[in-house]
Amino acid sequence: MIGLRRTGLPHEREPGLTVQHMGTDAKAITSYRVTAYHSVAVLVPDALGVLDDVEITRWTTAPARRDAPPPGRTPRRRTARMSTTTASPVLRTDYQRSIAEYWNNEQDPVNIKLGEVDGIYHHHYGLGPYDESVLSGPEETRDERVIAELHRLESAQADVLLDHLGPIRPQDRLLDGGSGRGGTSLMAHQRFGCRVDGVTISHKQVEFANAQAERWGVADKVRFHFKNMLDTGFEAGDFAAVWTNETTMYVDLFELFGEFSRLLRHGGRYVCITGCYNDVTGGRSKAVSQIDERYTCSVHARSEYFKALTANNLVPIEVVDLTSRTIPYWELRERSSVATGVEKSFLTAYREGSFHYLLIVADRVR
Ligand SMILES: C[S@@+](CC[C@H](N)C(=O)[O-])C[C@H]1O[C@@H](n2cnc3c(N)ncnc32)[C@H](O)[C@@H]1O
Repeated sequence: MIGLRRTGLPHEREPGLTVQHMGTDAKAITSYRVTAYHSVAVLVPDALGVLDDVEITRWTTAPARRDAPPPGRTPRRRTARMSTTTASPVLRTDYQRSIAEYWNNEQDPVNIKLGEVDGIYHHHYGLGPYDESVLSGPEETRDERVIAELHRLESAQADVLLDHLGPIRPQDRLLDGGSGRGGTSLMAHQRFGCRVDGVTISHKQVEFANAQAERWGVADKVRFHFKNMLDTGFEAGDFAAVWTNETTMYVDLFELFGEFSRLLRHGGRYVCITGCYNDVTGGRSKAVSQIDERYTCSVHARSEYFKALTANNLVPIEVVDLTSRTIPYWELRERSSVATGVEKSFLTAYREGSFHYLLIVADRVR
């Protein structure tokens, strides 16, 4: 059933219809984006398909009928031809479907409440020392202070990632692989003023993140897509930089870096922040297995990253071990009202040395 109108949208003119002022150009032409929102109620399982990347700009005019009225009187009928650039489904395996389902249903306060602090929603961990004064002071506002502090540390982590993207110009294009609710993409646009595309296999996250981009008034520059980062369908060589912020543990690294290598232009940069297990201590520790279990993911070995990068013409230029800088975040989170129970496994894995929190920077060469 299609046609239900969503309400409560930013820039709403009438139920389900938004009009957004997009600016005035040098010729004094003012543009508006008009969007009609329709909801779909799915009454039969598997009744929906998604046509992604459909081009609707190629129009052909149907030949005028001999008895057609003179042009200008009645508009002539036109037919639209649509073509798609991606044929393969976004979710290709049962495993990917289970990950998508996990993120579609995810409502953890540790992500939602922190995002509500300033409207930038992250699904990653924090970096840097925390301000101990948040734990003292009036009891009734302690929770609020701790949440704001955890959020500050998560945004600081995204800043560290963005610091390593290199000199990005406003005309460049960036890709956020596994974009979650979109926080890092919005911060990247705020910093560089350029176009950012985020991809995630959770359609709920796409909806949420695009609504945030609208809310921030940057929907013309920051777009989120229901796409698999292993096969994005974007044009080869279009991107100045690509990053993944805690997403690589869901995919095969050789396949992922093959796709990123295709998307990056020569000299383009890839930045990754990830947890990985330590080849030196040998294999997956019990604490790392608990992390895998909690997120239905498969943490890779440190060595796997470098093998997969070099196999795909991505040459590492910098590696930073962030482990000691993320431990305070976990200590604070363990003492907060938004602790999820996984804190102990992270702290054990980091402290015993079986797990690292790494930032890896690599450049695309031919
Ligand atoms: C831990 S969250 C990180 C989100 C975001 N990078 C951040 O820092 O807030 C992991 C994300 O990876 C996405 N993901 C997992 N596998 C994916 C795939 N094959 N293609 C695209 N996104 C994927 C999930 O949908 C989710 O958005």
